[in-house]
Amino acid sequence: MQKNNKFIKSPLNYTGGKYKLLKALLPLVPSDTKTFVDLFSGGFNVGINVCAEKIICNDQNKFIIELFSFFKKEDTEKLISRIKERIKCFNLSLTNKEGYLKLREEYNRTKDFVDLFTLTCYSFNHQIRFNNSHEFNTPFGFERSQYNESIEENLRRFCAALKEKNVEFSSLDFEEFDIKNLTNRDFVYLDPPYLITNAVYNDGKRGFKNWGEKEEYALIGFMRELDKRNIPFMLSNVLCHNGRRNEILFEFSKDFRVIELNKTYENCNYHKKNRGEKTSEVIILNC
Ligand SMILES: C[S@@+](CC[C@H](N)C(=O)[O-])C[C@H]1O[C@@H](n2cnc3c(N)ncnc32)[C@H](O)[C@@H]1O
Repeated sequence: MQKNNKFIKSPLNYTGGKYKLLKALLPLVPSDTKTFVDLFSGGFNVGINVCAEKIICNDQNKFIIELFSFFKKEDTEKLISRIKERIKCFNLSLTNKEGYLKLREEYNRTKDFVDLFTLTCYSFNHQIRFNNSHEFNTPFGFERSQYNESIEENLRRFCAALKEKNVEFSSLDFEEFDIKNLTNRDFVYLDPPYLITNAVYNDGKRGFKNWGEKEEYALIGFMRELDKRNIPFMLSNVLCHNGRRNEILFEFSKDFRVIELNKTYENCNYHKKNRGEKTSEVIILNC
């Protein structure tokens, strides 16, 4: 059972981020876990809050993984003053679109980590999107997004935890991730794109691998293999969304423990198709 102190929030406002679900997720991770694998780490909201001997932060988006690896090494106060310098230099504000676009151009030329993070502070919904040429292309977050005290506080706490914990980084497609050294004392958390919802990272137009039925079946095979090897896993997903049911996952879920997270929603009726109109968020686990 993991401790429920005030949770650390990723400084990246990540689409599909699990910060709000930590209260439900973390108690399911044994506190004597040796290696915790956050296989689809995204903003790394889950892994950063886990107590384990080693935490692996893996995501196919190598730009985010490199950014976190930089956060771990870089002195945090130096990082913050560099962010502030960039804000001043490009005169970034809630309304200066031109300054934002100039910094975006500069980042796409230099791939500087400080610039990438600064851009996410001013981008539309703080999103991180890349085009097929791996250029950052999120539009400006006009009158909505800017660097502020709360982002700074999240960044400080996140960087402190990255430095304090034994975190290792990798940017592999989950299918390439090697599980042969994992045992029943380890734990794999999987938070992949959802097959039946649309997120910016799974429309296949972002320079990274698409998420479709083929990947969903590969994911099922991956979890079955974990289970066969007695490696504990926990999957976050949705079984129903706007009247659609994920049939592939639904079949798989019959063999495992399913915890419904949003009980306040009208649940989708598993037996009658298309009855539920809301999203049924679940955790599926083999432990
Ligand atoms: C729902 S988000 C994870 C959010 C994260 N749990 C958090 O709390 O911030 C899903 C992530 O899966 C990653 N992803 C998509 N396809 C992948 C693949 N084939 N292998 C590894 N990561 C992948 C995306 O880049 C995205 O960051």
